Amino acid sequence: MVDLKDWLNQQREKGGLRSLRPVIRRGKGRLVLAGDDARELIDFSSNDYLALAEHPILIAAAHEGLRRFGAGSGAARLMSGDLAVHHDLEEAVARLKGKENALTFGSGYMANTGIIPALVARHDLIFSDRLNHASIHDGCRLSGARLVRFRHNDLNHLEELLKEKRGAGTPLIVVESIYSMDGDRCPLRELVELKERFGCLLMVDEAHATGVFGANGGGVIEEDGVGSGVDLAMGTFGKALGSYGAYVAGNREMIEYLLNRARSFIFSTALPPAVAAASLAAVQLIQQEPAFRQELHEKIAYFKTMLRNGGYSADLGPSQIIPFLVGKSGATLDKAGLLRKQGMFVTAVRPPTVPDGTARLRFSITRHHSTADLAQAAKALLEIMD
Ligand SMILES: Cc1ncc(COP(=O)(O)O)c(C=O)c1O
Repeated sequence: MVDLKDWLNQQREKGGLRSLRPVIRRGKGRLVLAGDDARELIDFSSNDYLALAEHPILIAAAHEGLRRFGAGSGAARLMSGDLAVHHDLEEAVARLKGKENALTFGSGYMANTGIIPALVARHDLIFSDRLNHASIHDGCRLSGARLVRFRHNDLNHLEELLKEKRGAGTPLIVVESIYSMDGDRCPLRELVELKERFGCLLMVDEAHATGVFGANGGGVIEEDGVGSGVDLAMGTFGKALGSYGAYVAGNREMIEYLLNRARSFIFSTALPPAVAAASLAAVQLIQQEPAFRQELHEKIAYFKTMLRNGGYSADLGPSQIIPFLVGKSGATLDKAGLLRKQGMFVTAVRPPTVPDGTARLRFSITRHHSTADLAQAAKALLEIMD
């Protein structure tokens, strides 16, 4: 057993100790930190990219879900927690992802730690991008399969490893389509080509892509037109969809298998009906309102242009997630503090969330941000990122 006091002191000394500080939401992407009510901050750390969390249609859907079904679903889906709204949601997700069927999970973490161990075990192989989210990594470790990590987005490296280690059986390749802490995008078409050439299963986590990319918000999978080449299209409802929970879409057989084998699905209470109803409304809304997506992309482009015009030369990536690399945790916290003094709430992302020495400020642009907010943020960043 680790010595708690020692561990906490060590973390405190190296600037790695985390703590909770409640925020009070003021709506429209504004918040105040509890205890500091005088200062309203612009939130640049939210994953509510399309500003759907407070959209009246989602709120009305949640109310209706509560009214019709009650506050909780009362049991796991395979017991008596299986409600019509879960099925409606799964059908809508399957259509969005161009798949036959879908299955919902309590959260993205639960989805990844349930799906991967259901598919592969001790004598199997997983090829996983080195920057995959902790939930994917934990799912891989939990499976007991042999884990081979390839260099981030490096398909030559993946191909080399496939040639060297593939062996018999069907390995699993797992990637994110938009990386959560780097904001870059995986070369999905080439990955599909590789997985087909080497006879693997391909799982893509679209947590940060669904709603933001694709003509209907179906993610990079939709935008790249590779629906049929992706065996497992996983994603969450807690980010651009403004709600909570997660899903995986796949063919009928795959989903039937997972609902019989994914332990985080089987042994956990079904999503609360109000949450499932809000997620369903969000899935419908992102398809009915492509203008939301367009508005978000215009804001992203504006922010990046302001930074470039101000002389910022590092790569700003292709998405709404923009990392500003600082290096050391302490220095990153200091910069986040400076931004806070200027009215902006930005997350200082530190190890173990990101590799050692790559602590960063992670900006996420949402539809809440006005051009004035974005100009203010770009100006402040140019001053602190020398
Ligand atoms: C890529 C990725 N996958 C999965 C998750 C986990 O999703 P959830 O927050 O719903 O547990 C996250 C959350 O940050 C993520 O970024």
